[in-house]
Amino acid sequence: MARRQIAWGIFALVLSSALLLGPVRAEDDDGASDDDEYADASRAHLVVRKWCKEELVVQGKNVTVDIDIFNAGISTASLVKFVDKLPAEATLIEGSLVADIGKIAIGSHAKLSYVVVFNTGSIELTLPPARVTYAAETDSNDLTEGASSSMALYIMTPVQQLQRYALHAGAYASLGFAKTPADWRNMAIVVGLVGSALGANFAVKKVKSSTVNRKRAAALRELEKSE
Ligand SMILES: *[C@@H]1O[C@H](CO)[C@@H](O)[C@H](O)[C@H]1NC(C)=O
Repeated sequence: MARRQIAWGIFALVLSSALLLGPVRAEDDDGASDDDEYADASRAHLVVRKWCKEELVVQGKNVTVDIDIFNAGISTASLVKFVDKLPAEATLIEGSLVADIGKIAIGSHAKLSYVVVFNTGSIELTLPPARVTYAAETDSNDLTEGASSSMALYIMTPVQQLQRYALHAGAYASLGFAKTPADWRNMAIVVGLVGSALGANFAVKKVKSSTVNRKRAAALRELEKSE
């Protein structure tokens, strides 16, 4: 049990630092042809960013996916169409994966969003890139196609979410003492104890408050021991 939590905690840390790099990168689908493109007098150039506010999301909860389409070119983009797809683990519950956007002026954004629910937990996945097609030149209906940035998410099970809250609480309770791997191991053990106390409280709704208080006191004693 504790070993799994340590592994998960370390994984979450690695994941969150790796993700710092991810969402910032804007997609440039046709890097190789950029020179040609900018040599052209006036073309639209759409940059599409697809993102979620949280990289850690919870199985069974609503997750909003945001799309930001920005015209970084020097001409209006027209006939702009957006087509997205979901990973197999997600179900669309609000909004649309397809949109006819029409025109996007120079320096303007079009923003879209939809809501999904993930039906599987304890997995990492990358949202597939959305496709955007548009006419880049005012006097031609030739279509340019581009892909959005994509983003890696970790889908927590509801139990993992509780453990994460407990881990945060542990970090505060330790006042920053958890610096070495051994500290983290002890912390993960405490998190397990607090987590099972929480679990018991949720499972047995009519537990007497004196029992709840005893469990809280026991969890606090464990926290103090670990310091
Ligand atoms: C999730 O999204 C659906 C559809 O928009 C909405 O009806 C429901 O209230 C949302 N649930 C929560 C908890 O926000």
